[in-house]
Amino acid sequence: MDKVLITGGRKLQGEVEISGAKNSALPIIASTILSVDECVLSNVPLLKDIQTIKKLLECMGARIKREGDTLDVNTKDLKSCEAPYELVKTMRASVLVLGPLVARFGEARVSLPGGCAIGTRPINLHIAGLQKMGAEVEIKHGYVEVRAKRLKGAKIYFDISTVTGTENLMMAAVIADGVTVLGNVACEPEVVDLANFLTKRGARIRGAGTDTIIIEGVARLSGGSYEVMPDRIEAGTYLACGAITGGDVTVKRCIPAHLEAVLATLRAAGLKTEVTSDSIRVIADNGITAVDVRTMPYPGFPTDMQAQIMAVMTIGRGLSVITETIFENRFIHVPELRRMGANIKLQGNYAIVEGVQNLPGAPVMATDLRASASLVVAGLVAEGKTEIHRIYHLDRGYERMEEKLSQLGAEIVRVK
Ligand code: EPZ
Repeated sequence: MDKVLITGGRKLQGEVEISGAKNSALPIIASTILSVDECVLSNVPLLKDIQTIKKLLECMGARIKREGDTLDVNTKDLKSCEAPYELVKTMRASVLVLGPLVARFGEARVSLPGGCAIGTRPINLHIAGLQKMGAEVEIKHGYVEVRAKRLKGAKIYFDISTVTGTENLMMAAVIADGVTVLGNVACEPEVVDLANFLTKRGARIRGAGTDTIIIEGVARLSGGSYEVMPDRIEAGTYLACGAITGGDVTVKRCIPAHLEAVLATLRAAGLKTEVTSDSIRVIADNGITAVDVRTMPYPGFPTDMQAQIMAVMTIGRGLSVITETIFENRFIHVPELRRMGANIKLQGNYAIVEGVQNLPGAPVMATDLRASASLVVAGLVAEGKTEIHRIYHLDRGYERMEEKLSQLGAEIVRVK
């Protein structure tokens, strides 16, 4: 198992280029199931999760060729409609093939994703939406089996705003019979990116990015080419690396508008920022002032940045109360940060972080994607060496992270 060795204490300086968004590429790749024509996707990050969904589509019969950051996808000869447990258990976002499979073939058999480190991750809202569109759903032997002669447009209201639930139902609705109204949907930029790609291919979608999306079903969707938007969470993670090390870091090829809540938090913590149309610079020359953070659905502070901002607050001046409102168990990075000397108390979905002068550093273990990112952030400022084990979690969501951090002056190596 690979691990990463970081020697803390370096101020990060310089520029880093942001890769394509994992959580946009995943639904966009799944949406290629909706038409027999070829799709050419660019700015697709080279990540484990992208490999997983590529393998999933290939085992169903799709032909996918990767050249650099471009994926050439052809699902004309798709024959199976099954997403096997072996693949789904490694990535719950595989559930994103459910809507497209039912829409195109009238059936799908997808392993229930099961929980993961951060929570039970149910898909009851995905299923309820498909049932509203006329699908028969059965849960058998850990699989969800869906059948529908032809999906019909319906009025669906989500009790909780769910990102992949919104994406699954939007993909099911684009070639359904009639109009579908999705209420209380997720407004995340990744939902908008998917809607833009579907629209380019002939779908009729209005309201993506607001809390109501209206989809008029069309007979068929064509293929098309699309450039995946930059990853706002990767960008936010490198800003956190610049902040914690007292550095001066510019993230390039990002969309600053996607990071308003993160920028507001960094500014409140005393950091200077300079923003252009596609870059953000953070200058941390007067330490970190502790600020409170509360995760919320977009455009609020993203839950996927909670672990990283907590790492920054471990050396902030004063007390920071961090509230996680999206997932029920997204503090698993706390015990590991404590091992590094952080002073954090947990109270339900609150974490109370008291800033310390310095972090002595320690060998730690990654438990999930963003938790491992927070250990890297903390390791960059910890005294001496920090060893992070099980960093395959990191490889799921960060492309060439140690290379990008080394370019910024970090002392970081991956050890086989
Ligand atoms: C997406 O997960 C992201 N993954 C997550 O990123 C992200 O943390 C999350 O949205 C929230 O922003 C992808 O896009 C592939 P949800 P998703 O459905 O869609 C509850 C990362 O680090 N819920 O918006 O699975 C659920 O339990 C990953 O890149 C139901 O109750 O999240 C949670 O409490 C981690 N029933 C809340 O909604 C459902 O049917 C939000 O979950 C669906 C969700």
